[in-house]
Amino acid sequence: MEICKEEIIEYLLKNTSDEPQLLQELRRETNLKCINSIMISGELQGRLLSLISKIKKPKHILEIGTFTGYSALCLAEGLKKGGEIHTIDKNEELLQIQNKYFKKSNNRDNIFQYTMDASIVLGKMNKKFDIIFLDADKKNYVNYLKYIPNILNKNGILIADNVLWYGKVLGKISETDQETKAIHQFNKKLKNSKQFQTIILPLRDGISISIKL
Ligand SMILES: C[S@@+](CC[C@H](N)C(=O)[O-])C[C@H]1O[C@@H](n2cnc3c(N)ncnc32)[C@H](O)[C@@H]1O
Repeated sequence: MEICKEEIIEYLLKNTSDEPQLLQELRRETNLKCINSIMISGELQGRLLSLISKIKKPKHILEIGTFTGYSALCLAEGLKKGGEIHTIDKNEELLQIQNKYFKKSNNRDNIFQYTMDASIVLGKMNKKFDIIFLDADKKNYVNYLKYIPNILNKNGILIADNVLWYGKVLGKISETDQETKAIHQFNKKLKNSKQFQTIILPLRDGISISIKL
């Protein structure tokens, strides 16, 4: 489902700060080498992640779903000096491209990768975060939400991608469509939670931004 007209996106891109050179290169290589290159964050979303991070100036960031490392690098742009971004992806085939670009970045010493299932990492996590970016398997969004309040600091920000799931959350959801059901439940839980204040923005596939109260 196209949320925004193409000419509006063009205008937004023209009048949004430019994507840094390193990220342009990473996007190009991802498009050339990865079958699921569409999973990479869009340029506008990347600049939004960077901006939120620069406003928040986080000491600790957690990302669930690294893919080729694009959004991790965007979020890392706002890290406090000596801050850390911890990023999880179960697909070890992505490590080569992640490492290539993480090494080239100014934040190379601040990025900590976990190559395993996110539930395992979350179950053992003993750190607290100022920003959590959720962008992995949609059917587990609700499960991840069980861990998040305990590992997100007060006034910490939770950002979740694909919360409109190609518009499938809008109509009647089939009982067998686990992903759409989970995303819809996730959206409802955040909306009804007294622990979070939430907004969903209609950027690309929908991005929700919540603050822990
Ligand atoms: C949409 S991509 C992430 C895109 C990335 N955040 C970006 O903006 O460039 C989702 C990633 O989540 C990973 N993933 C899916 N299920 C996972 C799980 N259970 N645990 C850890 N990673 C998972 C996939 O391997 C994939 O690389």
